[in-house]
Amino acid sequence: MAKKIRASVPAKVILFGEHFVVYGKRALATAINRRLAVAVSSREKAGYHVKIENIPTFGIELDLDRKKGDKKAYPYTDFGTATKAIAYVRESIEYLEQTYGIGSEGVELEIKSAIPLSAGLGSSAATCVATIAALKEYFGVSGDLDAIRDDAHSVEKKVQGAASPVDTAISTYGGYVSVENGKVTRLHLAELDLIVGCVGSIPLSICQDTKKASEMRLKTKKIVAEVKTRKETFTRIFDSILNASDEITVQAIRAMEHTDFVKLGALMNINHGLLDAIGVVPRRLSELVKMSQELGALGAKVTGAGGLDELGGVGSVVVLPGEPVERLKTAMEIAGALVMDVKTGDAGLRIETGF
Ligand code: MEV
Repeated sequence: MAKKIRASVPAKVILFGEHFVVYGKRALATAINRRLAVAVSSREKAGYHVKIENIPTFGIELDLDRKKGDKKAYPYTDFGTATKAIAYVRESIEYLEQTYGIGSEGVELEIKSAIPLSAGLGSSAATCVATIAALKEYFGVSGDLDAIRDDAHSVEKKVQGAASPVDTAISTYGGYVSVENGKVTRLHLAELDLIVGCVGSIPLSICQDTKKASEMRLKTKKIVAEVKTRKETFTRIFDSILNASDEITVQAIRAMEHTDFVKLGALMNINHGLLDAIGVVPRRLSELVKMSQELGALGAKVTGAGGLDELGGVGSVVVLPGEPVERLKTAMEIAGALVMDVKTGDAGLRIETGF
């Protein structure tokens, strides 16, 4: 088979309702114009050869104090990029072999990504959707977008234990989706200009400890489990928080429909407060949000799973900027963030052949 297929998908930003969506409450998410692509072609040798390039990362920690001759170091890039992305690629291939009986001829997979890892921007779901879509197309497995989304969601759940359909839906369909009680609805809402800031670095103690390293790789799973414990400890309080979050998402969708950005920003700030209440806002993300609010942003919040201080506080914030944007971005960069201007509502899965 001498053909070449490329599947590309967008990153996601959860605007409202992360974590609470796991308990059936409404969430609103959007695709952003940062994409990941998987190219599939044939190779002579049997089996799969996977090449991962240029995944943006942040926060490198190195031990320069090691004894002479010991060249071993544990930069975040080595640890995060290879192991995490590979887990999702490997599981996607296994799933396709078992479910659709795809062949075992020689296949070359080349992954290129503009989505930072472990940042709450959907890199895992994007890897699953793009890998599955490219391989299905390559092996001529028929099926529509919904089937690709379901396949990718099954793989994501298998790797990380539990996952709502938010991330895989956004990677597949693009645009905006709301999710409630596991049901995905595609929405047509206006484009927004947002700023996303990612921070954190994985402490050496985690990189060097196999158990902790695997916890870090499955950061979302660990954080979701911690939230569950808090829910079980404070049942009635948590119920009120869940209901408040649901109402915030409803009002946010309305605010977007009426292009009421002041209200939208205020709702982001309230949502952030709820995320803080359930313990998913580490110090560095908290600082970024506070700083953005002080510098005139209309709204700012943690997005995605958030983070934990003991896991290096790695994660992202999303900011709806007021004016002036440049001052805010510079301040975020000085605070150590990888800062990205993003547009919402990017296109979903795109498949190209013969390039
Ligand atoms: C992860 O992107 C968002 C969470 O709500 C988990 C999920 O929805 O599966 C924290």
